[in-house]
Amino acid sequence: MIKQITSFEEYKEAYKQSIQNPEQFWGDIADSFTWKKKWDNVLSWDFEKPEVKWFDGAQLNITENCLDRHLAERGDKTAIIWEPNDPKDDVIKLTYKELHQKVCSFANMLKNNGAKKGDRICIYLPMVPELAIAALACARIGAVHSIVFAGFSASALSSRINDATCNLVITSDGSYRGTKTLDLKSIVDEALESCSTIEKSLVLKYTNGAVTMKPNRDVWIHEELTKVDNNCPAEVMNAEDMLFILYTSGSTGKPKGMVHTCAGYMVYSTFTFKNVFQYEEEDVYWCTADIGWITGHSYIMYGPLANGATTLMFEGVPTYPDGGRFWEVVAKHKVNQFYTAPTAIRALEKQPIEMVEKHDLSSLKVLGSVGEPINAEAWHWYDDHIGKNNAPIVDTWWQTETGGIMISSLGGVTPQQPTFATLPLPGIQPVLMDAEGKEIKSQEAEGRLAIKFPWPSMARTIYGDHKRYKETYFSAYANKYFTGDGALRDANGNYRITGRVDDVIIVSGHNLGTAPIEDVINEHDDVVESAIVGFPHDIKGSALYAYVILHDNVEGNDELRKEINNQISQAIGPIAKLDKVQFVSGLPKTRSGKIMRRILRKVAANEFDNLGDISTLLNPEVVEEIIGGVLV
Ligand code: PRX
Repeated sequence: MIKQITSFEEYKEAYKQSIQNPEQFWGDIADSFTWKKKWDNVLSWDFEKPEVKWFDGAQLNITENCLDRHLAERGDKTAIIWEPNDPKDDVIKLTYKELHQKVCSFANMLKNNGAKKGDRICIYLPMVPELAIAALACARIGAVHSIVFAGFSASALSSRINDATCNLVITSDGSYRGTKTLDLKSIVDEALESCSTIEKSLVLKYTNGAVTMKPNRDVWIHEELTKVDNNCPAEVMNAEDMLFILYTSGSTGKPKGMVHTCAGYMVYSTFTFKNVFQYEEEDVYWCTADIGWITGHSYIMYGPLANGATTLMFEGVPTYPDGGRFWEVVAKHKVNQFYTAPTAIRALEKQPIEMVEKHDLSSLKVLGSVGEPINAEAWHWYDDHIGKNNAPIVDTWWQTETGGIMISSLGGVTPQQPTFATLPLPGIQPVLMDAEGKEIKSQEAEGRLAIKFPWPSMARTIYGDHKRYKETYFSAYANKYFTGDGALRDANGNYRITGRVDDVIIVSGHNLGTAPIEDVINEHDDVVESAIVGFPHDIKGSALYAYVILHDNVEGNDELRKEINNQISQAIGPIAKLDKVQFVSGLPKTRSGKIMRRILRKVAANEFDNLGDISTLLNPEVVEEIIGGVLV
């Protein structure tokens, strides 16, 4: 199977080889996969265009690597453990054999309903096994899945369906989250009112909620499955064929459909899963993310399954039925590797410590963190109370765009350092850039984080908009991928990510572009203009603070705050809700009309000193007013 690095020395050697001879390094790793045809060329790249190809000429199907190749040796091993929202409900365990059969049946059902290779299929499902099965079934037949997190609103869903011109959507009657039951089907119905490309909507019967089925469009999955068998040969895919599209927010209102391709993504997610988490054959691994995010794609589904691992899918939330649920699940399934987000750690840290202590966490071997910088307090709480100072923490820095973990320690193998993601993984060549756009050569430094060499799982483009891909990631610095993050590097080469340097705010580990939210606020009839910044929040890491200018005759009050937030929930989803809304008469602007967000950020954080030189502003007087009205 995949090469495992088991000592710091081995890591250093692997890293050196990966830099000196990347093609040999990745070629050797790729050799351990199942290919229908091997590659002609390991890597060709040009960051000017930008164009990157890994394993070009090779042919494969990722599902053969995630499923078929395990059948002989691990057919009866549990592939997926599904833990329901309600702990009183039954756990589902699917062996590799069962998962294989289910994926094949689902794939045949997709074909029966008109799906073909190359089609884009939108998946809008709760965290049930069928979510993974549906995604793998798409991959089986060469269709491109576009999974939309089932907490997004109808309008966010329709814009994603339209952007990718999906012809099928897969959903369910409803979903459970904690004490809530959500009516997913009616959200889809509303979304489809403005989607002309959808021909079929395949509906999973799950909560048994009342739904309206539209004739000739909506079909029940359980009925359709009775019409097919479970024999479905895997479609032959070229290495650089699209595997999936996953949307992430950016600095304009339009979400970016990041395109990931088959071979490089598979090789990198598999290699990094094995090494970062130091997964061993009998281990039970749990990542608490939703499959609707990249973390779930790479480290619930593809990476673990390609390694033949047992991966746990959790439908619920960390606080239902109580704040000890995560730890209860760890104890119940004897989880060995546990991977979550700092925002969850901070929330659970606030619970009475008995919530942790009443559960046996001795199975834990490696703890992971992802999605935002982990503050020292949360890091130590995680280490002391969850890992009992005996389970190394991997602080994994990466992005939807990178497809896999880029900077992280390898659990227990390379040194950890609180609040530092630490060292780049083999094949990753990070650089820090200074304000003039030059690479900082000194070891100890702080700057903007860029990557100067391709890695196998990088997104190849933005679906339908290669120009935007180039502008967003390859125009800040010549010949380098720009991450949008700031970082510092210590004397030993360890990286600490300091946060976004662009207009993206990370709230509870979710990436939120300011522009799309501002667009929604500005659509409110009473609003003239708005600006959003992040401010430090105990649990969420950052929360949203909005400065809103209203029309002259309108009074800013809580009612209006509520209306604005409802509008945001409708247009984007509850994750983008504003924590604070301050009504102002103006926004500080430069003479060229650009909003000075730096000032707004400082005020929202109650840092009123060092606002910098405000005399060059077009309207310096407004700063005083804003400080006067700040919401604390
Ligand atoms: O700012 C970084 C932050 O999350 C961003 C990527 O968000 P997204 O595409 O949603 O993917 C999240 C899961 C991979 C990054 O640009 N981020 C992610 N991991 C870390 C982090 N910031 C600090 N430390 C991390 N470990």
